Amino acid sequence: MRDRKRPLFAANWKMYMGPHEVEAFISKYTTLFAPRDDATIVIFPPSISLVPFALAVEGRSDLEFGIQDVHTEVQGAHTGAISAAMVSGTQATWGLAGHSERRSEFGDGDAMVGTKLGRLFDAGIQPILCVGETIEEREAGRLFNVLERQIRGALEPLSEDVRRELVYAYEPVWAIGTGHTATPSDASEAHAIVREVVAAIVDEENAKAVTILYGGSVKPENIKELITAAGVDGVLVGGASLDPASWAVICDCGR
Ligand code: PGA
Repeated sequence: MRDRKRPLFAANWKMYMGPHEVEAFISKYTTLFAPRDDATIVIFPPSISLVPFALAVEGRSDLEFGIQDVHTEVQGAHTGAISAAMVSGTQATWGLAGHSERRSEFGDGDAMVGTKLGRLFDAGIQPILCVGETIEEREAGRLFNVLERQIRGALEPLSEDVRRELVYAYEPVWAIGTGHTATPSDASEAHAIVREVVAAIVDEENAKAVTILYGGSVKPENIKELITAAGVDGVLVGGASLDPASWAVICDCGR
């Protein structure tokens, strides 16, 4: 059972770090970063690097890992796709769904994201639902509506059991890969909205306990102010997780 009180540091490697690069990263990172038992560390390599990753972290049970996306089906004629059931064979224990790059580049809609979350859960993988607004939506005052629509739409096809186990990542699209980080108060405001929506759909108790990550231009210089912001339980880091030294500094925060 996941300890919901521990901060969660998650790295999204996106389409970086092929199979031949994983071992060098892990060996450098593990010399810089001593295991800590008061935080959870998870890396999301590209799917082709999952098996090399599993081999590279053998013996470091503090380094967990997961898949960035899965197909909505368990198996079938879906060229190029990977199912959650297949991922569980790599010992990956985490899975993302609904990342804004999946939504904008591949057309993942809210219902599809919900189906993916369910598939991850059924395969014994901890699902993370990514949500976040574009700059146009924010400027039009639609932050609440967008987060509510994304959460409601994804939770709709899910059973009560799955809904209760979700982790969330709030990632404003305008902050992803842009260097424009949300302020701690922007993050707190959005995380409070996620909790409010979860309270309405699941219940108050779940909304209080749920883990919500902030993502969008997190780096060593701003990790402290973001991870200590009210309602922020961890971070999902893209660019700054690709360098073992900066990822080690991020994961050391609050030790
Ligand atoms: P970034 O990406 O840290 O490079 O902004 C975060 C993410 O997309 O998960």
